[in-house]
Amino acid sequence: MASPTAAPLPDTPKELIKQGAEALVYKTTYLLPTIPALLKLRPRKPYRHPALDLRLTKHRCLSEARLLVRARSLGIPVPAVYFVDEARGEIFMEWIEGSSVRDILDQLLASEGGEAAVDRIMVRMGEAVGKLHAADIVHGDLTTSNVMVRTSRRKGLLGGAGEQENVDVGQAEGELLLIDLGLGSVSTAEEDKAVDLYVLERAFLSTHPRAERLFGDVLEAYQRSYKGSKPVMRRLQDVRMRGRKRSMIG
Ligand SMILES: Nc1ncnc2c1ncn2[C@@H]1O[C@H](COP(=O)(O)OP(=O)(O)O)[C@@H](O)[C@H]1O
Ligand SMILES: [Mg+2]
Repeated sequence: MASPTAAPLPDTPKELIKQGAEALVYKTTYLLPTIPALLKLRPRKPYRHPALDLRLTKHRCLSEARLLVRARSLGIPVPAVYFVDEARGEIFMEWIEGSSVRDILDQLLASEGGEAAVDRIMVRMGEAVGKLHAADIVHGDLTTSNVMVRTSRRKGLLGGAGEQENVDVGQAEGELLLIDLGLGSVSTAEEDKAVDLYVLERAFLSTHPRAERLFGDVLEAYQRSYKGSKPVMRRLQDVRMRGRKRSMIG
């Protein structure tokens, strides 16, 4: 008999796409070989005490999965969760066919006439983060790498019967999705939300030359889509000041 922690799909091929400090990320399939999925695996850490290690693995895995489910149930664009095995540290989720906002911005900003497309992405990014914060979810690692643009709509696990297969859309037109809620939390604190925005701002400034204006567009859309954003915006000023002081001290 299979042990309770046996892999749900033992023979499914997996392709490693990222090895982070905390998790291994694979492209795989779920239930059917035609349904692409992402597997995020938090491997056991042999240097940690086994009981503590298991508790941490379970806690982080469940925390990320719960935030994804919570966000999605509130209409915030995040990948759908397919399956969780917290003891193994596994989350299977919807595979997003597309690229990170970081990569798309790099391409668009390097090409002639990408401006309008960039503007539209900025607006949708602000709206997504605004929705997230309005739901009192703080991302915890909000960078342009952790926002994806879906460039192809495939029939996924949760797709309806009438859903078309493989409809490709332009890079700038695809749906935006927030990914990687591994450091996220539920919080009503303005400080936490302001730090989210600050982290995103730093990510913009360090990777994109004309980022100041772009980030301004993000913030405008953020404020429009999040009615309670005023105190967060005020707090962002404080967080920026602290950041500046810190960088002066060294
Ligand atoms: N649902 C998904 N569909 C497709 N690609 C994804 C998905 N989630 C993550 N990725 C890709 O895998 C990378 C790592 O995933 P992420 O959740 O950000 O892990 P980490 O915590 O290691 O940063 C992402 O930058 C993205 O390129
Ligand atoms: Mg990430």
